[in-house]
Amino acid sequence: MTTIGKRLGDAPAPETLDAAERMSVDELRALQLTRLQWTLRHAYDNVPHYRRSFDAAGVRPEDCRSLADIAHFPMTTKADLRDNYPYGMFAVPQAEVRRIHASSGTTGRPTVVGYTAQDIDDWAGLIARSIRAAGGRPGQRVHNAYGYGLFTGGLGAHYGIERLGATAIPISGGMTPRQVQLIMDFEPDVIMVTPSYLLTIIDEFERQGIDPRSSTLKVGIFGAEPWTEQMRLEIEDRMDIHAVDIYGLSEVMGPGVSQECVETKDGLHVWEDHFLPEVVDPLDGTPLPDGDEGELLFTSLTKQALPIIRYRTRDLTRLLPGTARPAMRRMQKITGRSDDMIILRGVNVFPTQIEEIVLRTPGLSPHFQLHLTTQGRLDALGVRVEARPDASPTDRVTAAAALVTAVKDTVGVTVTCEVLDPDTLERSVGKLKRLYDERTR
Ligand code: DLL
Repeated sequence: MTTIGKRLGDAPAPETLDAAERMSVDELRALQLTRLQWTLRHAYDNVPHYRRSFDAAGVRPEDCRSLADIAHFPMTTKADLRDNYPYGMFAVPQAEVRRIHASSGTTGRPTVVGYTAQDIDDWAGLIARSIRAAGGRPGQRVHNAYGYGLFTGGLGAHYGIERLGATAIPISGGMTPRQVQLIMDFEPDVIMVTPSYLLTIIDEFERQGIDPRSSTLKVGIFGAEPWTEQMRLEIEDRMDIHAVDIYGLSEVMGPGVSQECVETKDGLHVWEDHFLPEVVDPLDGTPLPDGDEGELLFTSLTKQALPIIRYRTRDLTRLLPGTARPAMRRMQKITGRSDDMIILRGVNVFPTQIEEIVLRTPGLSPHFQLHLTTQGRLDALGVRVEARPDASPTDRVTAAAALVTAVKDTVGVTVTCEVLDPDTLERSVGKLKRLYDERTR
């Protein structure tokens, strides 16, 4: 049962919201259309790639007369950014670019993104808005354990913390014992970190004999990787904080494209004054109505240095009506990425489905890996998971069997499960690698 002693999960006072957060749907849609028309024109006039792709599709910026017209424009993929490496997608002269970031990617060239001074300003404003929605307030201290550097997490969050009027503690990722020391000594109110690294930090608290619930932290803002409702309960219970979700990607800006509100914790409000979301069929790109699950696409509405049109995120979710910010649609917590999907004997399996089950199974810790191997002519999936420290040898055997049964019953596939000693699997200091593909074919 989750109990959060340090109640702070209050909605921000209406007068502290940005004007866009208070707009009616009609006002917001009108603003989006003006900004969309500007973006299409800016991209077409200044980025050869967009000029070519619009021409090939037979569309011109002036063909966009309503928001629905966006569906006539071509989509953009990560491959387009790679093919234009490093600066080919930039729409402003080099002298106007104040910063670049890059996402490493697992193979080949990184994806390079750029920001003008105005872009950085807009981004800081959206992170400040996100932290406020998460329950953070001016005057508080924010422990920022997202990695600083080319990754957008650290610096992106940093500028927003300062913009909010809070104090940034720029610790970055790594040196876990020191993370614990500084949380205890500097007494932050908010932590920003990947959920998997927070688990590493929680374990370190326990290793040092400090109760993780005894810190001053009240809110955690977690993103950069998928995490489940079950993980929210685990974190809230073990740390006595509100755990809320932040989403973003470098190609579209970085963190702060959408944010969950602490008072509702019901999915992430897309900051629609800056980004137009769509959901399409991941296979053929057909637009899907709000409510249907598919691949998320974004079009930037204000970005100068790197306007992005219908970017295929590969992330799977659905769009839902606004709640805490009525005019801004929500995206449901990300189920996974289409490229993380495992197809096991014809059944689609997402690592998040396994996470839900691991966390529900008594005796199992949240630390697990998935190993995909070849067994004869078929693929096999093995779950390697650490036991909780207090689980007895019998508990472990029971837990392994329970996990296999639950996966069979709810996901529909047969997996093997190996329960390991605590502290044996590699820990994350940033984004966690969940899936190990060891197939020989
Ligand atoms: O991860 C930006 C970020 C930093 C977001 C810090 C939130 C906090 P990239 O490295 O470009 O950017 O990776 C983007 O990470 O397409 C998703 O697959 C995944 N992702 C990001 N946030 C979430 C989230 C940053 N809240 C990719 N839930 C995205 C699930 C997420 N997946």
